Amino acid sequence: MLNRGLRQSLFVLVLALHLIVLSTYTILRYQRSTPTETYPDHILTEADPFAKPLSPGPLPASLIEKSERLLLNQNYKRFNKQQKSADKKYILPRVPCPLLPPNLVGRVTADLFSYEMHEVEEHLANSSIQLGGHWSPPHCTAHYRVAIIIPYRNRDMQLRIFLNFMHPFLQKQQIDYQIYLVEPIEKIKFNRALLFNIGFREALKEYPWQCFIFHDVDLIPEDDRNIYSCPPEPRHMSVSVNTFNYQLPYRGIFGGVSAMTIKQMEAVNGFSNQYFGWGGEDDDMSARVITKYRISRYPASIGRYRMLRHRPDTPNSNRFTFLHLGTGLMNHDGLSNLQYDVVSIDKKKLFTHILVNYNETLIKASVADLVKKKKKPH
Ligand code: BGC
Repeated sequence: MLNRGLRQSLFVLVLALHLIVLSTYTILRYQRSTPTETYPDHILTEADPFAKPLSPGPLPASLIEKSERLLLNQNYKRFNKQQKSADKKYILPRVPCPLLPPNLVGRVTADLFSYEMHEVEEHLANSSIQLGGHWSPPHCTAHYRVAIIIPYRNRDMQLRIFLNFMHPFLQKQQIDYQIYLVEPIEKIKFNRALLFNIGFREALKEYPWQCFIFHDVDLIPEDDRNIYSCPPEPRHMSVSVNTFNYQLPYRGIFGGVSAMTIKQMEAVNGFSNQYFGWGGEDDDMSARVITKYRISRYPASIGRYRMLRHRPDTPNSNRFTFLHLGTGLMNHDGLSNLQYDVVSIDKKKLFTHILVNYNETLIKASVADLVKKKKKPH
């Protein structure tokens, strides 16, 4: 027979053991059902056209790119130091914004109604957008300083829809951003890539942007987990577009919307300046990019866009001359031979409008000898 004291101790011991077993089981179960912090490799390399649509809800941690997160962790101290010392007038003594913006919902639908510009400005009047279309989170320091560069001509209705939707979209992502519209004067040919190069140069003159999103005005994102930031590899963002049945039309595509850091842009000498008219300039950039990097993409279910309707542009048949040269002009044609004049810079309420002039003949002449040489059979 055990005495009373011993019986009581045994009882306490058995109870404690039960509690330990039960809590270990609960912890293990919880861990199993909690999403892990691992990332499918394909996010970094390929679109995943077969990815199941994700149910709306806050952005799961697992969908932030692994590389992006690692980069942030590794560079966090450096990032803070740079922020403090780089340019004091831009730095506000605040806490960093959360890595996962808290109010994302997944699928979003744009209001496609064509409001007048003053109506759009009224809609957005309370969101503290600074003149020129610059916004940064009021209560925390953004992780990214992002310039959105839009080559523009004659797309007034699309612009109004774009601005009305994009400002709240970007604000939810808690990034420090500004929208730049780069427009050629009348009578000169439209050159999307050249306008991107100009936007890149001009934007950097006014603010220490880290990341550039090269964006067509007719593309509206459909999922707010498509974060407008720059990962370590250049990112093609418009992975699945309604006009292509939400499929990647071809592997190397880099058009529509793409994201690059300053370093990446400089490493490939920016875009080519030789593509006047529609087409080819993004394929040329894709060829440049893959000489140094891999193209990264979100899964198709996140990199979704709706294209606003417009009359199709006439393709530029000359584009093949340059495309056939591959990356032959890369080191001579781009940011290094960029020639243009700024006609005006107008700080509108919701965007910065940069009107520019350039001389097609001079731009073509700057590489003409090289083109002749490269075209000669060896
Ligand atoms: C053109 C690209 C364009 C793509 C998708 C290609 O043929 O060269 O500039 O982005 O088609 O429309």
